[in-house]
Amino acid sequence: MSHVFLSVIDALPDGGAAGLDAEVGGEPSPLLALRRGNEVRVFHNVCPHAGRRLEVAPGRFIVDADTVVCAAHGACFTIPAGDCIAGPCRGQSLREVPCELRDGEVWIDPRG
Ligand code: FES
Repeated sequence: MSHVFLSVIDALPDGGAAGLDAEVGGEPSPLLALRRGNEVRVFHNVCPHAGRRLEVAPGRFIVDADTVVCAAHGACFTIPAGDCIAGPCRGQSLREVPCELRDGEVWIDPRG
C-alpha cells in the first residue's frame, strides 16, 4: 500500500511535538510528530510506561530541554528520535510509524 499524507513540515513546531490523527494498521490512531529542523519522525501517541497519551491537554505537549515530556508521570523522550532518557520507562522508545519526507510534506506508511 502506498504512503498517505499526514502534514506539511512547516505546520509542525520546530524543536517540538504535534498531535495528529490518522488510520494506522486499519485503526484510527492518535499520533505524535516530533520535528527538529527538516528532520521529522512520527510515533504512536502512546507512552511505553503506562500506555497514556503524552499531552497535558488536547494538542498541548510539554517540551523541555530538547525532550517531550509525558504529562502522566514525566517520562522524557528525545526530539525527534523518541527515545526515553529519563523517567519511569527510561531506555524504552515510542513506537514509530514509518514515514517519508517529500517536498516539505510528511507521508506515513498506514500499515504502521
Ligand atoms: S504513562 Fe507516560 S510516564 Fe507514565
